[in-house]
Amino acid sequence: MRQDHLISASHLSREDIEAVLDRAADIDADPAAFRQRHAGKVLGLCFFEPSTRTRMSFDSAMKRLGGQTVDMGPVESSSVKKGETLADTVRVVEGYADALVLRHPSEGAATMASEFVDVPLVNAGDGAGQHPSQTLLDLYTIRENAGLDDLTIGIMGDLKYGRTVHSLAEALTNFDASQHFISPESLRLPRNVRYDLHASGAQVREHTELDEVLPELDVLYVTRIQRERFPDENEYRKVAGQYQIDSETLEAASDDLTIMHPLPRVDEISPDIDDTDHATYFEQAHNGIPVRMALLDILLSQDDD
Ligand code: CP
Repeated sequence: MRQDHLISASHLSREDIEAVLDRAADIDADPAAFRQRHAGKVLGLCFFEPSTRTRMSFDSAMKRLGGQTVDMGPVESSSVKKGETLADTVRVVEGYADALVLRHPSEGAATMASEFVDVPLVNAGDGAGQHPSQTLLDLYTIRENAGLDDLTIGIMGDLKYGRTVHSLAEALTNFDASQHFISPESLRLPRNVRYDLHASGAQVREHTELDEVLPELDVLYVTRIQRERFPDENEYRKVAGQYQIDSETLEAASDDLTIMHPLPRVDEISPDIDDTDHATYFEQAHNGIPVRMALLDILLSQDDD
């Protein structure tokens, strides 16, 4: 991968993706070989929005590469509360770290921030925009469970505000994947994502009911309705709880169906699915370690090449 930053999945070629996934597989096979790979290097974590998986897995990944992390901590106890701008914050933190991971509620924040820093910056979620490192671990999970070519995937839930969906759908255009988008009318893919998919030659197949397509699917990628992004709580209430899957829903599914979710879940997937062979979402979250180790390894090694 020859990129300074990772801002959008639309910037990733198939070659870029495979380089990260292959490195992650090497790490999975022999983690000890990477244990001191980036000793002495520091990763800066700047999270302006809540996170469990992304923050902790980047932290753990960097430490498993022999490096260390510095964390801005909660916004409430940072100088953001004194009015510091994002541009100033990242310009300061790049002096403390060899790479930055940024999560921010504003779409486009990572693009803007990347213009102010010389160290690699990873977009860990910018509002309803993109979440490309999540996509890399999603693709790793899909490759392990179903394969990335000749794939039929259903992506269901909040396709409007779900940044993991936007990144995943764009990245999948690099592969031979049929994508089906299942959502309420009001939460269909936004225009810019739809445009990018069409521009990449992908067909956008949209459905309001899962049962229209469930029997065909190799993978069902379920997402949470992003309550925090709705400008009007009444609009959220109209769609909340509309897409829930349980054992009964899955009677029409293939025995080999892989069910994924970027997590956190609210009520989209019933816990009665957790112990079935379909449930892959905890494995998916755990794949954040080798995949983020691989991504950091590649970004931090670029200057050594
Ligand atoms: N999937 C994901 O981004 O989870 P967190 O919000 O917990 O980081």
